[in-house]
Amino acid sequence: MPMTTEGREHSASTSKLPSGIDGLDSMLGGGIPEGRVVLVLGEPGTGKTILCSQYLHWGATERNENGVFIGMNEPKSRLVTEMRDLGMDLASLEKKRQFGYVDATEVRRIPEQARVGRIPVGGKELGLAIVLDSISDLVFRFPRIEERRPAILDIVEALQSTGATCLLTSELLSTGETRRLQPEEYLAEGVIMLRIVRKGVRTIQISKMRGTKIDTAPRPFVIRDNGIEVLAREEVYA
Ligand SMILES: Nc1ncnc2c1ncn2[C@@H]1O[C@H](COP(=O)(O)OP(=O)(O)OP(=O)(O)O)[C@@H](O)[C@H]1O
Ligand SMILES: [Mg+2]
Repeated sequence: MPMTTEGREHSASTSKLPSGIDGLDSMLGGGIPEGRVVLVLGEPGTGKTILCSQYLHWGATERNENGVFIGMNEPKSRLVTEMRDLGMDLASLEKKRQFGYVDATEVRRIPEQARVGRIPVGGKELGLAIVLDSISDLVFRFPRIEERRPAILDIVEALQSTGATCLLTSELLSTGETRRLQPEEYLAEGVIMLRIVRKGVRTIQISKMRGTKIDTAPRPFVIRDNGIEVLAREEVYA
């Protein structure tokens, strides 16, 4: 059985960490399972980065947790500016050493043969949250699905071995009833799916959360001045 933190085994009744997103925890059956890796899957611009930033920001400001953001898409300055416009002061959290940014944007430029995984974030201490945003550029290097799976497994296991509660983002490659599931959907403990179903209508859906009773219906969400807010009791009309 995989260990989450020293001496503690995975069990059916994992404790949950608040996501920091209004309305989302009730859909998640309480929150994000502690010490696990949960995938945030969505098409470009659906809100993956905002959701993950809010998770770290809320944990730092409300629960005194430390957060690490591993950014593959944008340098720190861009993330900090974008999130400042949504009411999150990551710069001051960084000064207080509650937020750390690992700039992994260069990883995208490493030639094909690069190994994936073994992410250099240490410490099995509790109260650490990690975001990896996103794995898409890395896994796209492996055109064949049989190669992609071990690469993603490597990443998921590396994150899991830190004992931190992790969010991992990835690009949703196809939609519709007949779409093929992506390897990361099998490998993550849970999957939160973000979509823009039509102009201006964003939806969030928990498609999987091992060992947890969840609300599997898609629910609308909005991005306002204070970030993402999920309208957990509203239906999405086709
Ligand atoms: N200050 C803001 N107020 C309202 N909406 C905003 C604000 N800032 C960003 N948005 C919305 O959030 C969207 C981007 O969210 P985010 O960057 O989290 O998406 P993403 O899923 O990470 O995209 P990508 O796949 O390109 O990284 C924008 O397209 C915009 O519609
Ligand atoms: Mg993003």
